[in-house]
Amino acid sequence: MYAKGEDNDEKVHKEFHKEYYEGVRFKGWRNERVVAEHRNAGDRVLMVVEEDSLVQKRKLQSVLKFIEKELGFADGEILHKLCKAYLYISNHRIVGCLVAEPIKTAHRVIVSHPTAKNLSDTTEKSDSQKPNKTLLRFGEIGFNQEVIKKCKSTKSQETDQWVNGAILSEEKTVPALCGVRAIWVVPSHRRQGIGSKLLDAMRKSFCADKRLEHAECAFSSPTSAGHALATSYTHSMSFLVYMSGDV
Ligand SMILES: CC(C)(COP(=O)(O)OP(=O)(O)OC[C@H]1O[C@@H](n2cnc3c(N)ncnc32)[C@H](O)[C@@H]1OP(=O)(O)O)[C@@H](O)C(=O)NCCC(=O)NCCS
Repeated sequence: MYAKGEDNDEKVHKEFHKEYYEGVRFKGWRNERVVAEHRNAGDRVLMVVEEDSLVQKRKLQSVLKFIEKELGFADGEILHKLCKAYLYISNHRIVGCLVAEPIKTAHRVIVSHPTAKNLSDTTEKSDSQKPNKTLLRFGEIGFNQEVIKKCKSTKSQETDQWVNGAILSEEKTVPALCGVRAIWVVPSHRRQGIGSKLLDAMRKSFCADKRLEHAECAFSSPTSAGHALATSYTHSMSFLVYMSGDV
């Protein structure tokens, strides 16, 4: 909320937008835990853990507030004591952030589930066969509004139901070690490989004694962009997912 025309409010509003689109300013820390460095001068990934200083954790919080808003977390909900957070620094700004947590099990995404098939079947039906269809007309332009499938928000469905209700996971659990609780890249830097580099840094440094395999990492409630990233990063449609609250 800000008052348009108020100089101070306008200034704060502008800075808020700049930080959201381009990243929170970052001058550097004396004790940075650098876990990866990249080609571009100064680009690096830092890890922040519970034991780090207040200054470091405050900076992390200033990024998490954007992520919590965009991903629908409550304020202060993303981070807990066991989390390791990764910050991608570029050009003196924090342009990406990943929060990972230890997990024990995960579920494999089912690639071609009947529900997904039903969705495409519905799309292929003729207009008269389509359920709940409404035509909204504005002059020459018509919009079709269609309810493809309604999902009741019951606990059991929430456990399985993912993007657009079309991605389901197997009930069977498989062992896993690291959960991606949240991953976020500022809008101005998306599709430049930063999300993938954060995942690389996490796999390399999450466990002190070994580099994690793709099959040991899982994603919590992926958004559609998160789903696309996970599919591309793991080279598999049947990557692992988990429910954060189950940890
Ligand atoms: C999801 C997110 C972190 C991806 O970060 P990113 O830095 O853009 O990802 P990368 O550049 O490493 O993407 C690697 C590949 O993943 C796939 N991919 C990533 N985002 C995609 C998108 N929005 N649509 C389609 N494919 C996508 C592409 O194959 C991409 O390779 P390409 O750009 O060469 O085609 C970013 O879009 C984001 O912050 N979104 C908002 C928050 C969010 O939804 N987070 C996910 C929570 S699970």
